[in-house]
Amino acid sequence: MIRKAVFPVAGLGTRMLPATKAMPKEMLPVVDKPIIQYAFEEARAAGIEHFIFVTGRAKSSIEDHFDHAYELNDTLELKGKAAELGSVTDWLPKPGELSYTRQQKPLGLGHAVWCARELVGDEPFAVLLVDELLQSDPPCLKEMVDVHQQTGGNVVSVMEVPQDHTNRYGILDIGADDGRMVEARGMVEKPSPSQAPSRLALIGRYVLLPKVFQHLDKQETGAGGEIQLTDAMEKMLGTTPFHGLRFQGQRYDCGSRLGYLEAIVANAMERPELQAGMTSILKRYL
Ligand code: G1P
Repeated sequence: MIRKAVFPVAGLGTRMLPATKAMPKEMLPVVDKPIIQYAFEEARAAGIEHFIFVTGRAKSSIEDHFDHAYELNDTLELKGKAAELGSVTDWLPKPGELSYTRQQKPLGLGHAVWCARELVGDEPFAVLLVDELLQSDPPCLKEMVDVHQQTGGNVVSVMEVPQDHTNRYGILDIGADDGRMVEARGMVEKPSPSQAPSRLALIGRYVLLPKVFQHLDKQETGAGGEIQLTDAMEKMLGTTPFHGLRFQGQRYDCGSRLGYLEAIVANAMERPELQAGMTSILKRYL
């Protein structure tokens, strides 16, 4: 069972400034729901029972979003706005299901995950990078948890990216490949296109054994001078099963302006109440 998920949400969101000056990038809405809620719902659909947010300064609106807003609830109730009330309360975690800790210094993704070590403890856990909005049925993390149950090892979600984009991602070196699942033989963070061992990129979903913390404990820096999760995972290769699972659905990189815009358009086009209006808006611009 994978019970716990870590959400590293301490990043500054510099790619989305000035919107992220006073607002966490994770709270930017995709239509009417903040980006972070999509990842939260994906984790819950995968059976996660405990949600660990690694936050930073100026991120308190995330905590507010995952809490009851009594004045708002009361007002909506008084006005008989049942659907709106449901939209802010139905999905809330139960008391005690959420934990927060802070990454006090921006030392990298590996460091952010390491900050959650006491909250995770000695059990396998998931990591979700919230910027990566993944839509599929079944949800990405659910499929990964199922694979972990078969293999007992580490599982990462991967997708093929253009050769000239390898320097934006962690890239796998692969062994056996059945078209869906690949055996990870190596991995490297942000290799140049000429050095990349493949085009299979990590897309922000991980199921990891707690042993990863032993490697993160060493606080070794890698690409960009940061403590990289990819480097710590690489050290587990050969000692435990390690697989990449090809993601089959739609992926939106909400950390970039265009990816974020695409997520909004795609989401609106999937909603029956917005589809017609959105189509006519888009037609005007084409
Ligand atoms: C992080 C990881 C990288 C991964 C990427 C996916 O990089 O370090 O391995 O491929 O997320 O979005 P970042 O985008 O934070 O630089």
